[in-house]
Amino acid sequence: MWFAVLSSNEVRRKPVGVRRLGRDLVFWRDSLGKVYALEDFCVHRRARLSAGKVINDRIQCPFHGFEYDGNGRVRLIPALGKNYKVPDRFRVNSYPVYEKNNIIWLWSGEGEPEKEPKFFDDIDEDFAYAEFRELWNVPFPRAVENQLDVMHLPFVHRTTIGRGNRTLVHGPVVKWIDEDSFIFYVFNEVDRGQRVKRPEELSGEESRVYLEFIFPNLWQNHISEGTRVVAFFVPVDRQKTMIYLRFYVKMTGLKPVDSIIARLSMPLNRIILHQDRRVVETQERDIRKDVLVQGDLPIMEFRKRLYKEKKLIDFLFGGGQ
Ligand SMILES: [Fe+2]
Repeated sequence: MWFAVLSSNEVRRKPVGVRRLGRDLVFWRDSLGKVYALEDFCVHRRARLSAGKVINDRIQCPFHGFEYDGNGRVRLIPALGKNYKVPDRFRVNSYPVYEKNNIIWLWSGEGEPEKEPKFFDDIDEDFAYAEFRELWNVPFPRAVENQLDVMHLPFVHRTTIGRGNRTLVHGPVVKWIDEDSFIFYVFNEVDRGQRVKRPEELSGEESRVYLEFIFPNLWQNHISEGTRVVAFFVPVDRQKTMIYLRFYVKMTGLKPVDSIIARLSMPLNRIILHQDRRVVETQERDIRKDVLVQGDLPIMEFRKRLYKEKKLIDFLFGGGQ
């Protein structure tokens, strides 16, 4: 499974050490700009490779100069000379990575990647965006499910996007597009005593606002054709999640102007996200005791898909760590 784990601008010429999915990893680029991800500890005496540098398209350990290629194999042990044939056991774990749309994906879990990671195909190169990220003290499922929650708007976001007291939640309708992605619609109303509609009574209807989720960790709020909020939620370890939030704009036909509009929108997006954070960080960490209601349908669909990933479930709920 491909996990969006970093924004492209976080990996420049210098190696960067980050914790993702409970593992310490080093990301670096070769001279062509291709990104690699390795376990961040030198096989020799466990110094951080991320404290080293990139030389001749290899990452060099800062301690004794061991040089690693992109597959994690040691190609040079300076103390033994350049004619020494380095045995195969001198290697660290390497992880497949993929970069597009200024996002870096990491392959995690069983098997080898068959196809490239999916991004939202209706966000093209003509969109400008602004981004910020922050670390939340919540497990990965809590961070994702907050963005799939269509019932919290009039409470958590009473003063911003949830104005109007539309507490009644029809449906919501969830439509799977393929095995890893679904869209869902918001049909919220002021409660005048009317009956709540079931999802099947709404099928065929489309609301102006819809959202899209690509498993495991990409989310889009389709505000309008030219404005989108995109987020990705990255498990740092079992208890912490890095949240990346982008505001995409394609409004004026001039990318630099769109870029300014995107940047000017960030303070509001930050306020909205912090409204979420204040509540979500109070949730009990384990999702398994939750008692869900009809309005939680997108969350239920996410969980169905989540529970198919045994390794991820082990990581999130298993022993250790
Ligand atoms: Fe929210």
